[in-house]
Amino acid sequence: MITKILTKNLTLQFLLLITLTLTITKTSASVFNNVTCTNTKTFSPNSAFHSNLNTLLSSLSSNVINDVRFFNTTSGNDSNKVYGLYMCRGDVPFALCRECVGFATLKIPSSCPSSQEAVIWYNECLLRYSYRFIFSKMETWPRYKIEIPMGDPGLLRSRGFYAGLRSVLNELPKDAAVSLSGFSKYAVKQENASGSVTLYGIAQCTPDLSAGDCRRCVEVAVAEFPKACCGGSIGETVLFPSCFVRYETYPFYQHSGTSASLTASVSGGRNIPTQVIVIIVVLVVILVAIFCIGCCLLCIKSKKRHKTSDRENLVFEFNNSESLEFDFATIEIATDMFSEDSKIGKGGYGQVYKGILPSGQEIAVKRLSKTSGQGAEEFKNEVMLIAKLQHRNLVRLIGFCLEEQEKILIYEYVPNKSLDHFLFDSKKQKQLTWPERYSIIKGIARGILYLHEDSRLKVIHRDIKPSNVLLDNNMIPKISDFGMARMVDIEQIQGFTNRVVGTYGYMSPEYAMHGQFSVKSDVFSFGVMVLEIISGKKNSYTFESCRIDDLLSYAWNQWKGESPFEMLDPIVQESYAPNEHFSCMEEQEEIQLNINHIQNLH
Ligand SMILES: *[C@@H]1O[C@H](CO)[C@@H](O)[C@H](O)[C@H]1NC(C)=O
Ligand SMILES: *[C@@H]1O[C@H](CO)[C@@H](O)[C@H](O)[C@H]1NC(C)=O
Ligand SMILES: *[C@@H]1O[C@H](CO)[C@@H](O)[C@H](O)[C@H]1NC(C)=O
Ligand SMILES: *[C@@H]1O[C@H](CO)[C@@H](O)[C@H](O)[C@H]1NC(C)=O
Repeated sequence: MITKILTKNLTLQFLLLITLTLTITKTSASVFNNVTCTNTKTFSPNSAFHSNLNTLLSSLSSNVINDVRFFNTTSGNDSNKVYGLYMCRGDVPFALCRECVGFATLKIPSSCPSSQEAVIWYNECLLRYSYRFIFSKMETWPRYKIEIPMGDPGLLRSRGFYAGLRSVLNELPKDAAVSLSGFSKYAVKQENASGSVTLYGIAQCTPDLSAGDCRRCVEVAVAEFPKACCGGSIGETVLFPSCFVRYETYPFYQHSGTSASLTASVSGGRNIPTQVIVIIVVLVVILVAIFCIGCCLLCIKSKKRHKTSDRENLVFEFNNSESLEFDFATIEIATDMFSEDSKIGKGGYGQVYKGILPSGQEIAVKRLSKTSGQGAEEFKNEVMLIAKLQHRNLVRLIGFCLEEQEKILIYEYVPNKSLDHFLFDSKKQKQLTWPERYSIIKGIARGILYLHEDSRLKVIHRDIKPSNVLLDNNMIPKISDFGMARMVDIEQIQGFTNRVVGTYGYMSPEYAMHGQFSVKSDVFSFGVMVLEIISGKKNSYTFESCRIDDLLSYAWNQWKGESPFEMLDPIVQESYAPNEHFSCMEEQEEIQLNINHIQNLH
């Protein structure tokens, strides 16, 4: 038994280690720098230019083909023709190039909604469009400059720093222009500065420029940098429509991978220190070894046990945690920098935004407020829980983002808002006929049953209420907000907590008063919600008086008085099926008895 557990733990650790290593070696996602709209000429919405621009942008983003880092095209003809191009930095891997161009084509129309000309710069790519012919022309306006504000003052005063910088910058214009690979005008250069500091420089022109134009473009950019003591900073970038130059004191570009053919032409390619090579080789060897051991352990385990389900689960979790994490920049772009327009709601734990991923998938982004009590622990809890739970009646978690102050959850987007929007709105209420309400009740019940009984984990939701039930286009209910859910051991039926989460009015008395939760507290909340669904009335509950009155007592009295139909929503009364209603009411009986029992105790 112990060896089994040990083997399992070891395998898990190996898998985690591999995930970690992969995450570290994985390149970071696109970093946005600036977008500049040339506002001299504008177009009106839905004009021919507008539709040509849309065609152009989608053609640009769909033409990011392997190893093609530059692409130019046009759309439309004559007066409404649009010219456009993208270029990825010479060293970025194909996937990152495609992602970056995807982001750019999404962001540029929202940032420049009516400009006939615009340019957008990311660290990894640039994209431009215009009403005029822009190919093969050297252009240095508009421009954008980035300076790293902080720097070691000692370094910036040292002569070696500027000597190193000059030697990097002086080489870049001609290296970029004569790049041997022919098509791609890209050059990197590194140089020892003072002390242990090494300077790294990069320059790239759009490859449609002639060698002379490229050289001039880079020279103009380089002229923007400090040449002598003591200006400047330890890292700067100059971005033009036709070229860019950047230097840093750390290796921000990649020497390896697909860029090999590009860097071969450049002095930087030969200058990789042997230590770096040794470290890379050692890392690769360790990785391979870890991977082999992990695989062996998995094999041994699956041979020992004929049941392979655990192994499948492990692999499943491994795949999941790898693909669940999103980059903050990705989310910013998807939600248009968390703009007011994309805001769709406010939950107890923060704002909810609607977003669109580069793939076109619609998402709901829950940005947890920084002041919310939800710690990293609770956050991870929610992520891991929901990721494992997949059911027709649960909102699916697509991923999360955890970056310094930011905690963000990404869910599938459910179009129709939450149940309370329908239930407590006099107009929308009418849309909900009895068959619909009954199927919503059944759907929620299935979701809760799945959480309680059928999933691999036993999950108590602890905050079931209409605003946590979303409705999709087919009015299929989906339970959301598992932030307060807590994992409960399969053997453990009841739990105690000193931190009560939930919403008064839906909480069972024993939970509200004593923090004692179980599947029964969820069923209680569900019951209150069912009464609300069938009556169309909101339960009001005052915690101070410790009385559960109004809806619950009303329903109980109607039931005892044998006139249960009177509590039905008048809209429903025309279309209900008595048996279904009774079964909903009977569910309440047990709950109500429970309440009375608890009230008698006090
Ligand atoms: C881009 O740069 C221009 C010029 O420096 C500036 O006016 C503009 O605000 C910047 N836009 C963004 C989105 O950073
Ligand atoms: C791309 O630019 C070149 C000039 O550099 C031009 O000759 C060519 O026609 C352009 N391609 C398209 C599809 O417009
Ligand atoms: C070019 O313009 C003519 C009308 O001037 C139009 O019939 C034709 O469809 C246009 N072609 C394209 C590719 O948009
Ligand atoms: C940089 O310094 C290291 C030793 O610190 C040396 O081995 C290397 O050759 C130097 N590189 C250049 C380009 O001067």
